[in-house]
Amino acid sequence: MRKTVIVIVSIGLMLFAACKKQTSSEQTLIDNKVDSVLKLMTLEEKIGQLSLYTSDMDQTGAFIRKEYIQDIKQGKVGAIFNAYGAAYTRKLQAMAMNTRMRIPLLFGYDVIHGHRTIFPVPLAEASSWDLGAIELSARVAATEAAAEGLHWTFAPMCDIARDPRWGRVVEGAGEDPFLGSLIAKARVQGFQGSDLSAVNTVAACVKHFAAYGAAQAGRDYHSVDMSERMLRETYLAPYKAAIDAGAVTVMSSFNDLNGIPATANHFLMTEILRNEWNFKGFVVTDYTSIMELMFHGVAADTAQASEMSINAGIDMDMQSGFYNQALEKLVKENKVSEKTIDEAVRRILKVKFQLGLFDDPYRYCNEEREKTTLMKPEFLEAAREVARKSIVLLKNDNNLLPISKQTKNIAVIGTLADNKREMIGSWSAAGNWTKSISLLEGIKASAPQANVLYAKGCNIADDSTQYFAEALNVAKKSDVVILAIGEAAYMSGEAASRSSLDLPGVQLQLVQKIHELGKPVVVVLMNGRPLTINWIGEKIPAILETWFLGTQAGNAIADVLFGDYNPSGKLPITFPRAVGQIPIYYCMKNTGRPMDVNNKYTSKYLDISNEPLYPFGFGLSYTTFEYGEPMLNKKEMTEAEVLTVSIDVKNTGKYKGEEVVQLYIRDLVASVARPVKELKAFQKIELEAGQSKTVTFEISSKELSFYRADMSFGVEKGKFILMIGSNSRDTKNIDFMLN
Ligand code: GLC
Repeated sequence: MRKTVIVIVSIGLMLFAACKKQTSSEQTLIDNKVDSVLKLMTLEEKIGQLSLYTSDMDQTGAFIRKEYIQDIKQGKVGAIFNAYGAAYTRKLQAMAMNTRMRIPLLFGYDVIHGHRTIFPVPLAEASSWDLGAIELSARVAATEAAAEGLHWTFAPMCDIARDPRWGRVVEGAGEDPFLGSLIAKARVQGFQGSDLSAVNTVAACVKHFAAYGAAQAGRDYHSVDMSERMLRETYLAPYKAAIDAGAVTVMSSFNDLNGIPATANHFLMTEILRNEWNFKGFVVTDYTSIMELMFHGVAADTAQASEMSINAGIDMDMQSGFYNQALEKLVKENKVSEKTIDEAVRRILKVKFQLGLFDDPYRYCNEEREKTTLMKPEFLEAAREVARKSIVLLKNDNNLLPISKQTKNIAVIGTLADNKREMIGSWSAAGNWTKSISLLEGIKASAPQANVLYAKGCNIADDSTQYFAEALNVAKKSDVVILAIGEAAYMSGEAASRSSLDLPGVQLQLVQKIHELGKPVVVVLMNGRPLTINWIGEKIPAILETWFLGTQAGNAIADVLFGDYNPSGKLPITFPRAVGQIPIYYCMKNTGRPMDVNNKYTSKYLDISNEPLYPFGFGLSYTTFEYGEPMLNKKEMTEAEVLTVSIDVKNTGKYKGEEVVQLYIRDLVASVARPVKELKAFQKIELEAGQSKTVTFEISSKELSFYRADMSFGVEKGKFILMIGSNSRDTKNIDFMLN
């Protein structure tokens, strides 16, 4: 524990060091400097700043433009991505410093959940409901990325996702706009600190704007179609929170929104982002998105696609090369004004000034700092801490967990148990999987006296049962079986939609065979999305949801298995019982015929319950928590007032534990049908065994406001229900009036 405190303190000091506020006079100074550079640039040089190309060091899209080095030397590149390392970025930067204008390059990369020290995948971190832990993760990622010459990360991904078939659900914060907004803010603060010129901060990039997570049928890159109310009330919230937190760049999404591709969508990129939200940074497209306007069928050629994008409000062209090809002619034809070009260049140069690159283009290319920064012990300890907090205990019948370290024979079964690569998940950037700790290693390290027996059991995705016999033999010799099952890392992330949420391959059959032996079995899930583990949920006594926990995965899971850490995670996304229920999420509407099992003519299925397998906000502990009755300081409030609600929470078990006390609100009657509940606050508290604490929340008009029938945002008088509990299903309720 002492070590953890030292770690957190030392990183806290790092946080403090990054917190130098840029005053408005500094901003004006930067604006003046930008203008002084801009007026010296030719039109071609200006257009060059609007292009972003990938290096061939890493590949995150369909194709690479081989001429990127020549483009840099000709001043046709504003930024390079997928290039890192102090020496390599210095080499590329020197090429830009050799051009007429000597404008420094931006170096960007997908530092999504760690750079070298890999933290849990974002959906796992979201399961911690611990904003400090999430900010810490981004802080460490920024420090390592900046030490390797990077200025800019393409994160946080802020896409609300309510369809687990979509592989990129792993990259976000789940289904809820309130939780997603707080997490987006924490990630931006972690990446950017308050001083972008500090050499341990990087520019954030709010992606994928907008509503990419609502891809139809959960199929990646598919169309998105929704009402403006759904868009504003649910999907836009986390992007706005990230921008309000100071994010300096935004990335447009691949999808069309109501027929207009985001990359040509003036409503999104100018009316909302600029005019409503007053966003001052720059907008970059996603990979070749301008070229893809032709596939969408809204642009006939390079020129039309480029004209649509720049006039919609897109500043930088990732990888299509269309701006370099078409903009100069479009300006000469008066189809694009040079003023528009200037505005885009100004926004990009401003970020380069904010990063301090004009003062010293090589400030992030320090090989000495690189050597002493990467994968420091305190970063590994932080990764273990965040990973522990990201684990969700889904079931623990008869308190099978935690397992005693004095257990004689422990069977560890499943190919994922002896696997390092999958532990770092998708979008693991520069992470070195050979340095990650497997579950088998973690268990052996935590229980050195135990006789640990391993068997592969089966592969993740094929139908071979040839390894079953060995696994059953190992299980028979054990006192307890730890069974690691789930997905491979490639099965979630980009371009990784699945039509089924079942366990791939013959893993379920393996579980069923082992279950027949009658041994105590703990299932450890390793996956990038909710899975329909119905049989396991019913028959297996203990289940841990561990997602993909990063470099320290094995140690963190072992900490929980043996009780060195009492699990505290809560699901940020609903687990369906069947794909047929999708979309299924906690904050749905009541409908005019709410489900009634005794009435045929109500909203339900013939073949399955409406209920999820596990609800949003669900997660158990090794201890138990008892909730008192909610208490209000008054039964009525006006829009100008604040209502206080308190509730006593008691740790009624024998372990110290953390509990996420969640507060939901329902607006019973309004000018539009409102969700049956919406998360509006939560507090993660720690209680010693037997300790009780009064948890208090304040309710103001902010928590009660919504987009009314006329799309104005505000409150409506009437009766509300407050629901407080340990998840979205099990709550204590009380009502009050808004007068
Ligand atoms: C990818 C992803 C995006 C990523 C970008 C650069 O296609 O959609 O999230 O940041 O390209 O790698």
